[in-house]
Parts: sequence; structure tokens; C-alpha cells
Amino acid sequence: MSSKSEEKLPAHLVIFPFPAQGHMNSMLNLAHLLCLTEFHVTFIVSEFTHRLLLKNTSVPVTFAAYPGFQFRIIPDGLPDDHPRFGDKIADIIPAVTNTMVPLFKKIMADEDLLASPNRRPATCFIADGFFSFAADFAEEICLPMVYFRTPSAAYLWAYFHVDDLIQAQEIPIKEKSMDELVKGIPGMEGFLRSRDLPGFFRTDDVNDHLLQSLAAATRQVVRAQAVIFNTFEDLEGPILSIMLEKLPRIYNIGPIHEHQKSRLKEKKSEASIVAGNFWEEDRSCIDWLNGQPPRSVIYVSFGSLTVVTREQLIEFWHGLVNSSHRFLWVIRPDSITGGGQILTELMEGTKEKGYLVKWAPQEEVLNHTAVGAFLTHSGWNSTLESIVAGVPMICWPYFGDQTINSRFVSEVWKIGLDIKDTCDRLIIEKAVREVMEVRKDEFLERADGMAKMAKKAVERGDNPLYGVIPSSVGNLSSLLE
Ligand code: UDX
Repeated sequence: MSSKSEEKLPAHLVIFPFPAQGHMNSMLNLAHLLCLTEFHVTFIVSEFTHRLLLKNTSVPVTFAAYPGFQFRIIPDGLPDDHPRFGDKIADIIPAVTNTMVPLFKKIMADEDLLASPNRRPATCFIADGFFSFAADFAEEICLPMVYFRTPSAAYLWAYFHVDDLIQAQEIPIKEKSMDELVKGIPGMEGFLRSRDLPGFFRTDDVNDHLLQSLAAATRQVVRAQAVIFNTFEDLEGPILSIMLEKLPRIYNIGPIHEHQKSRLKEKKSEASIVAGNFWEEDRSCIDWLNGQPPRSVIYVSFGSLTVVTREQLIEFWHGLVNSSHRFLWVIRPDSITGGGQILTELMEGTKEKGYLVKWAPQEEVLNHTAVGAFLTHSGWNSTLESIVAGVPMICWPYFGDQTINSRFVSEVWKIGLDIKDTCDRLIIEKAVREVMEVRKDEFLERADGMAKMAKKAVERGDNPLYGVIPSSVGNLSSLLE
């Protein structure tokens, strides 16, 4: 029971993201958005992640601009010199399960749900949709719990149907049926092929650990008081509506980075979005873009987790160079197996046409007038950022949700091409020409229309944190109070 003085303080939300880049930036945006809506937020990060954020972002600015925000730092148990990314990314999952989660539970109990003289004890736990421990734990400590899903709604909807797909023998996927339409996911029967199912559905074993553990995590989602999606109605409305049968309280408050910007504008705040980068942005690419003609550059980036082989890299390089278009290419140092030196050598010969960086200010790049298209791995953040910027995409999905996102880009929203499961210089060259020349106007027009809808979705005046059916579920703010 809260005391009289506590009642005057804002509600206190504890946000715990999975410590990977694509989870961190959207959940940091969520935290800041909620601070702008006058909540107090405690944001749980690992020591390692916190160090990266401090190093690569002006994090102290965070505190000044978002007064209700604070970090709570806990170790992840991995040695300091463990890289955590690239081909060692898989080590993060046991580190979170065995070290971070038990410590988080202990802190919540020992520190009276993170209360302090200026902060009420936690009033709600916003858990990364990845965390299946959250429902039991919240129940145990009698704290309301809301899930935040970093990927699309369609991806979650596919996971709800794993058992049906197994029963209908659509999983395991047979090589010869890769291009057949999947019948077992309501709302996607007309366009989703087996090839487009979430990456982890590609297994020969229906008891595969990853497939089953992610399906089990999905079953936990229904136990939350509500589910927040980084999406909007004009993008995923049909899927969100069908999903109401399983999840009666859905809040689609995306695109969240744009939502935050819109809220800052409304408040005439001088604060900016804190990108939450794990790598240092190389801003020299903006100078390079400044020297390029409008819509002349293809931006190439495969996000924070993709790892490519030396051979794939060479195919991409040939495809891009042969297309005769200019390109800005992000290659993370940990993203190449079998020797990345080759790329630096190749790039030497194409200095005027191509520019290479290790990490870019992606949102700014996508909004630069010189950028005409985005060759992407179809991570959900990248997809949304491209949509808001009105930039058509060529999708080369790597894993997980990306295989389904790319199908929506090409077949549902029709704002780009999907070249999944190929890595051939001729196909890459053809796709670049198609998006930058042959079908340029058609794609740009549709992308522009989608960008307008995305911006409209987060500019609905005084009640921005609303749900898919505002009249029935009400405002997210009132749920979190
Ligand atoms: C993956 C998934 O595919 C994603 O859908 C899921 O929710 C999280 O895990 P990731 O590979 O990190 O994510 O891709 P993405 O979701 O696109 O996120 C990458 C983020 O890094 C984007 O916000 C992008 O702007 C940023 N980025 C990427 C940069 O700031 N600079 C770069 O050079 C590259």
C-alpha cells in the first residue's frame, strides 16, 4: 500500500531489455518516451552495456533531458574481455539467464522494488518480450507486468501457431515446399511462403530447442497485463486486430523513435534522442553523403548481429559495383568470418563510388537526401527507420524475425524487394538497378505514402500512448499509472 507522500510521486516503471543492440535502442526510446509522459523509469543494463552506452552516446545528456530516468547496472557474469557480439553472441543468453535475471530478482526484493526517497517502489515491470521468466516473477512479487515486443506483431503471431504448423506438417519445412504458401497462420494465407517463416522455424526437428523455447516464451505473453508493440495500425492493423483474440490489451505505439521525436517537438524540448549505440558512429559518412547527388546512394547495413562470410561479402561488392550506383556500406569489425581485410582491399579501387564505415548514424543517413534505397537485413528497427524516412528497401534477411519482415516489405507494403536465400552478384546488381532505376518512381511513391502514415500514427495530439482500439483498452498511460 503506498503512503500519502508516495501517491504524489509519478508511477515508477522498471524496464529490463535483453542486452543486444536492437533491443536496447527501442527500449531506451520507450523509456525516454515514458519519461516525457511524466513517469519515473529505472532501466536495467549490464555493466558491459552501460560502458558501451557511455562510450558511444552522450549518456549524461539523458539524465538532464529525461529527469525521471535512471540506470540500474548489474553484471552479466562474462569476463570483461569477452566480445559479446559477432560469433560469440550466443553466450549472452546463458549470461542473462544465469547471472542477470537472478541478480535482478534479488535487487527487486532487497531494495524494496527499487524505491528511494524520491521514487515510489516499482509500480509496473516492463519486460522485454524475450523474457519468459517475467510472468512468474511478476506474479510472485504481485507487480503488474507489461511486455514490450521489439520485433513486429506478425512475428509474434507466427509463433502463436507453431503447434498448428507442426500438426499440419508445414513444419519441418520440406526443401521442395519452400515456395508454397503457408496455410496455418490466419491473416497471412495469401502471401506468406514457407521460406518467409521466422528463421528459427527452419529445422528438421520439431523438438528443436530454439523453436520450442521461443514458442514457450510466446505462451507467456498472454499472461501480461498488456503488450506494447513498436508498430502502427496502418502497417500491421489486420494482424493486430486478429491478435486481439489472444491478447486483449495491445498498445501499438510505434514507430517509437518517431513517437519520441514527435513528443519532444510537442513539448518544445531541446533534448534529442539518445541512440543507445554499442559502436561509435563514424560521422564522416555524412560529409561524404553531403557531396552526393539526391537519391543517388544505396545505403547498405546488416544491423548489429548479422555475420557474413568472405565469399558473401565479395558477391555483395561485385553486385554493388556492377550496378554502377554509389553506395555507403556499414561493416562492423566483428561481422565477417574468414577475413575482412579483403573488403578494404576491394574498396581501394572504388573510392569515388563507395564509402565504408564501421558504424553509421543510421537514422540520419536514411533521412539524408542523397540516399535512394536501403540494402538491409530487415531487422525491425531498421525496417521502421527506413519506413519513416520513406526509403525503399532491398531485403537480405539473416535470421529470426527478418525473414518475415522482408516478405511484408515486398508483398504486403510493396516498398521494396526481397532477395532472401540468395547471395549472387547478378541478383544483387539487378535488385539495385530495379529499385534505383527501373521501378524507382513506383517504390518511392509507395514509400513516401507509408512514411506519411507512420508520422501520422504518432501525431495524435494529447493522447499519444493509445492502444489498437483506444475505446476498448484506453490509454497506455492510465494502465501504467
Ligand atoms: C535484431 C532483430 O532482427 C530485430 O528485429 C529485433 O527486434 C532485435 O534483434 P538487429 O540486427 O540489431 O536486430 O537489427 P535492427 O532491429 O535493425 O536494429 C539495429 C539498430 O542499429 C537500428 O536501430 C539501427 O539504426 C542501428 N544501427 C545500425 C546504427 O545506428 N548504425 C549502423 O551502422 C547500423
